[in-house]
Amino acid sequence: MTVIGVIGGGQLARMMIGPAIELGIELRVLAESADSSARDRATAIGDFRDIDTVLRFAEGVDVITFDHEHVPAEVLDALVAAGVAVRPDPSALAIAQDKIAMRRVLDELGHPVPDWGVAEDSGQVAEFLARHGGRIIAKTPRGGYDGKGVAVVTDPAQISEWLSEGPVLLEELVDFSRELAQLVARRPAGDTAVWPVVETTQSDGVCSEVILPAPTADDRVLEVAADIGRRIANDLGVTGVLAVELFETTDGRLLVNELAMRPHNSGHVTIEGSVTSQFEQHLRAVADFPLGSTESRHPWAVMINVFGSMSIDRYARVGEFADVKLHNYGKKPRAGRKVGHVTATGNDAADTVYRARAVAEIFRADI
Ligand SMILES: Nc1ncnc2c1ncn2[C@@H]1O[C@H](COP(=O)(O)OP(=O)(O)O)[C@@H](O)[C@H]1O
Ligand SMILES: [Mg+2]
Repeated sequence: MTVIGVIGGGQLARMMIGPAIELGIELRVLAESADSSARDRATAIGDFRDIDTVLRFAEGVDVITFDHEHVPAEVLDALVAAGVAVRPDPSALAIAQDKIAMRRVLDELGHPVPDWGVAEDSGQVAEFLARHGGRIIAKTPRGGYDGKGVAVVTDPAQISEWLSEGPVLLEELVDFSRELAQLVARRPAGDTAVWPVVETTQSDGVCSEVILPAPTADDRVLEVAADIGRRIANDLGVTGVLAVELFETTDGRLLVNELAMRPHNSGHVTIEGSVTSQFEQHLRAVADFPLGSTESRHPWAVMINVFGSMSIDRYARVGEFADVKLHNYGKKPRAGRKVGHVTATGNDAADTVYRARAVAEIFRADI
């Protein structure tokens, strides 16, 4: 049996468990703690930054893959040196781990990106601000997620703390009409599969709502997004699922925001929305199995995140919306924490959005 080891025990690892069972793959998870979201398959608990812990976890595993992009390069190198297959490859992962490297590489490869620069001191921030209308975006290169490490900046003093820790990525504040995400899966030898581009809505920098396919995405947008996704996956030699976050500008251009080389919040909607979910496809790709169909199973699928708590005593209140699917990540309640999601499918976009929102509302936390 193929054995896949996942580093990180969050909800992404958790949502790989069902598909692994279906595909006949043995999934093992290196979780952070005994109450991690993917605890059901946590065969080890330990620190993913510790080389010995990770090497021990990798013994008897055919392929190592990831629930997050925070595994240090030294740990990845040690795995490769020990002869372990790491997918995606550490050289590709390095680009997803560092937003400055990501911008540089995407730019060099000729992909459309926002205007960007790197600042090491407040003078350089002031210069970039002056060239971009006095309002810009600043990002810490590493460790950010869900809007942490991203700020709108009008004064260099706002990011003096970040600057004291190293270079900061600066970007023009893109006047986007909406955000999209293109998911692609790629096998080691280069076979790819793309899902239709989705529309994503972020609240306070955190993904909150996803619609498959992106409404009013005409064939041109679908094709351009799919082409960007495929080209990046091939250019960087990504194995597994790659998510390409995109800005659609008011004048109809697509700019690449950031990349994630793993299943992504924008792809949870594929569980019910698509013939093959991103989780199943990620496992197929990293195990080097043939990829599954990415066709949609319904005209529309809408995913809404649940934050704070997703208490089971509210399941009964779902009532007339019992066709909306519930995904509970088994996490302890905490204000603002992503604890689950709901997905509605249907023939009519507005009705599908309505039903997903109605159920998400039932779980809106009051903690
Ligand atoms: N250059 C930009 N212009 C306008 N909005 C941006 C820009 N960069 C990021 N954002 C907004 O901030 C959100 C989070 O930024 P992102 O770089 O994707 O960080 P994270 O790693 O937290 O997802 C984006 O989804 C978008 O809404
Ligand atoms: Mg993002």
